[in-house]
Amino acid sequence: MAPALPDGDAAPDDGALPASVVAGAEGRAFGVYLHVPFCTVRCGYCDFNTYTATELGAGASQSSYASTALAEIDLAGRVLAAADLPARPVSTVFVGGGTPTVLPVDDLARLLGGVRDTWGLAPGVEVTTEANPDSVTPESLAGLAAAGYTRVSFGMQSAVPHVLATLDRTHDPRRIPDVVRWARDAGLAVSLDLIYGTPGESLDDWRTSVETALATGVDHVSAYALVVEEGTRMAVQVRRGELPPTDPDDQAAKYELADDLLAGAGLGWYEVSNWARTPADACRHNLAYWRGDDWWGIGPGAHSHVGGVRWWNVKHPRAYADRLARGLSPAAGRETVDGESAALERLMLGVRMAEGLPIADLPAGARREVAGLVADGLVDGRAALARPAAGGSSPAGRIVLTRRGRLLADAVVRTLAA
Ligand SMILES: C[S@@+](CC[C@H](N)C(=O)[O-])C[C@H]1O[C@@H](n2cnc3c(N)ncnc32)[C@H](O)[C@@H]1O
Ligand code: SF4
Repeated sequence: MAPALPDGDAAPDDGALPASVVAGAEGRAFGVYLHVPFCTVRCGYCDFNTYTATELGAGASQSSYASTALAEIDLAGRVLAAADLPARPVSTVFVGGGTPTVLPVDDLARLLGGVRDTWGLAPGVEVTTEANPDSVTPESLAGLAAAGYTRVSFGMQSAVPHVLATLDRTHDPRRIPDVVRWARDAGLAVSLDLIYGTPGESLDDWRTSVETALATGVDHVSAYALVVEEGTRMAVQVRRGELPPTDPDDQAAKYELADDLLAGAGLGWYEVSNWARTPADACRHNLAYWRGDDWWGIGPGAHSHVGGVRWWNVKHPRAYADRLARGLSPAAGRETVDGESAALERLMLGVRMAEGLPIADLPAGARREVAGLVADGLVDGRAALARPAAGGSSPAGRIVLTRRGRLLADAVVRTLAA
C-alpha cells in the first residue's frame, strides 16, 4: 500500500498557478519527472505508488498510460505558458516508478517526445529512466538511447541471492554486468541502486554487493538503508517475527563500508546516499530537487514544485486518467512553501549535499549551533570556518557534514532547525 498524500489546500480544476511563481524563475532550472506506476511484481518492502496488473483493476491500463500522461504534459505546457513564466527548455527529465521499462520503448519515446514538443530540451539535457535488470534487453536499451534517453538507473539492490529473495526481487544477479555493458554499448550513462541492511544480510554479503557493483565500472551508485515501511508485506513479516527488524548500528557499519569501498574506487559522495566518479556523473535531476529548482511531476501521485508552489496528483491511475479525460488538472492538493517552511526545506535538503549550505543563509539561531556541531564531529570545521574570498563581505563558510554527520544527518537538521 502506498503512503497517503499530504492534505494541503484545494488545487484549482484548471491547474492554474498564482502570479507569484514568476519571481526569480530565470534563475531556476526546469525539470520534468514522469511517473510510471506499474510493476510486474510488488516487492514486499516497497510502498511506492505502483500497481501490478492484478492490483490495477478495471478503468486504467498500462497500454493507455502514455496517452493519458501526454494529456497532462499538454496541460502542463498550457498552465506554465498562462502563468507567464519565461520559456525554459527542460534541463533534466527523470522517468521513475514503478518500473518504467515495463512500458514498450515506443511509449517511453512518445513520452519524451511530448516533453520535447512542449518545452524543448536544453543542450546537454539529462534524460534518465529507472529500470529493473530483468526488464531490459540490448535492443530496448539501444531503442531508448535512439529516442534521446541519456542515462539508466538499474535497481540492482544486492548481488546476493538470499538477500534478493528476502526483498522479493526477481532478477538473477549474474545479469548485472550484462545489463550495465548493454547500456554502455548503447551510449547510456549507468547508475546502480543498492539497498543495505536487509534482514539476514551479513557485512560480507554487503561487501560482495558493493564490490560487484564496482566491478562493472559504473560511474554512479545510490545506496539506501532499507526502511521497513508501514503497510508493506515486509512490515507484517517483521511484526510476526518472521523477519528481524532492521538494526541502526548494522546499517551504520554498512554505510561506512560502502563509503570506504566506493571512495577507494574513485566514487565520491555528493549527497548522503549518492556517489559519483566525477561531478559530471552526478544525477543533475536530483541535484535540482535538492537545490529547490522547478519541476513538473507527471503521473498519478507525482509531486511538482514551481516557484514555491508545491502540488501533488491524485494517486490511483484510474482517478488520474478520469480527471484528465474530463479536461481537469489531476492535482489533488497544493501548498505554498514560503518563509519558515521554505527555509526549513532548504536546510533539510541542502545539508545532505557535499557542496553544503552557506552558513550566511542560515537563520541567526542556527548559526549559533554550528560551533557545537563542529565540536561534536558532525560538521566539517575547515569548511565551516572558510574565510570570505578577497573583497567578499559575507562569510564563505558552509555546513558540510563529516561522515559521522552523514550518519546523523537528521539530528544535525533538528539541531539547526531548533
Ligand atoms: C521505487 S524504485 C524504482 C525503480 C525500480 N522499480 C527498482 O525497484 O529498481 C527506486 C529505488 O527505491 C529504493 N527503495 C524502494 N523502497 C525502499 C525501501 N523501503 N527502503 C529503501 N529503499 C527503497 C530502491 O533502492 C529502488 O531502487
Ligand atoms: S520493482 Fe521497484 S517500484 Fe516495483 S515494487 Fe519493486 S522496488 Fe517498488
